[in-house]
Order: sequence, then structure tokens, then C-alpha cells
Amino acid sequence: MKHTINALKKMCEWAAESNTDAAKGYATILERVDWSKRQLTEEPKTVPVVNKYLKQCVELAGDNPLGDLGRALLKDSESLHWFTMYQSYKDDKRTAVLHKNYAVLRLTGPKGSWFSDNLTTAISIQGPNTWYPPHAHRQREVYGVIGGASEWLRGSEPIVARKSGEVIYHPSGVRHATWTQEEPLMCFASWIDGTQTPSVFVWE
Ligand SMILES: [Fe+2]
Repeated sequence: MKHTINALKKMCEWAAESNTDAAKGYATILERVDWSKRQLTEEPKTVPVVNKYLKQCVELAGDNPLGDLGRALLKDSESLHWFTMYQSYKDDKRTAVLHKNYAVLRLTGPKGSWFSDNLTTAISIQGPNTWYPPHAHRQREVYGVIGGASEWLRGSEPIVARKSGEVIYHPSGVRHATWTQEEPLMCFASWIDGTQTPSVFVWE
């Protein structure tokens, strides 16, 4: 994962300098990750949505540091450990598509390949025609779009289309959601503080 960690650091440096409300979150990532050494190596593991869409997501990535992170992940793809989320909502029909079409890869965190205390960084792949329903969590969160077209909801703001190279900030407790249509979506995401508290769906 050498390519990935180098690209992650460069991307955070770029985003921390951006004139956006996410910049402070990216500066926090830079401060709180131990970039000096890898703390653990996980067994490679993949899931169907990754096999199907990883390459396409990278093809959709733009010429920007978030796109570079996607290209680094593709170079390291043989060593990545992907998993699925929200198993506790498996009985809810509204999350059935999400379970099949969403995967996450942990980069840094208390249990990540590189250590960061009470802060996690991750990559997600969301297949086409998939709704990541409105949810909320205590953690402040920054996102970055690596590749793929998508629509995003934040609090009471209008839904907006996002593209590769955009960074997004979700304040603590603010409900947010993401939709894909024809294209799959690959994102960078980070939870800042309160990482032991689970995320919950907030339907209305
Ligand atoms: Fe979130």
C-alpha cells in the first residue's frame, strides 16, 4: 500500500490548503496520522462491488490529487482489505441495495494500516443506482470525490451534484445522504473524533 499512503498524504496536503469548509478537517488528518510507519498488515480481501467497479471508478477519476489517490489504490489493489457496512440494518428492506453495492477500505485509524488516534480515514466504493440513505453521526466528517458522478444531501441544503476533485464537510450530527445513478462512485472519507460511536440512519 506504499502508493496509496503516499497519495493519501499528498491529497490531504492539497485539501488542507483549499478554500473550503473541509480544509480544517484535512489539516487535522495530517496532524493526527502517524505517517512514519505502518502499524498492521491485513490479509487482502475483496467483495463483488469492488471487483466490478474499482477500475471504472479510477477511469472516471479526474486530474487532481483525489484522482491520484484512486490511481494509487489501483496500483495497490492486490493488497487491499475491503469490507461491507451496516450489518445491523440487514432486516430493513431500504438498505438491501446498499448492502450489495457498497464497500469500504480502512486506511488509517486505531485499527487501520496506519495509526491515527480517534480519527479514521477510509475509501468507499458505491455501485451505480445505489442510495446511501440519510444518516447522522457524532463524528465530524470530510469526504473527497475520487471518481464518478453522484448527488449529495447535507442537512437542509438543496441536493447537489458532485464530481471528482470536490471535498465535502459534514458537521457533527448533520444528516447527509449520497445517490449514484449510471456511474459508480469512489470516495475518500474521514471520521474525526468520537470514532467509537456508530452511525445511524435518519429516514425523515
Ligand atoms: Fe457520514
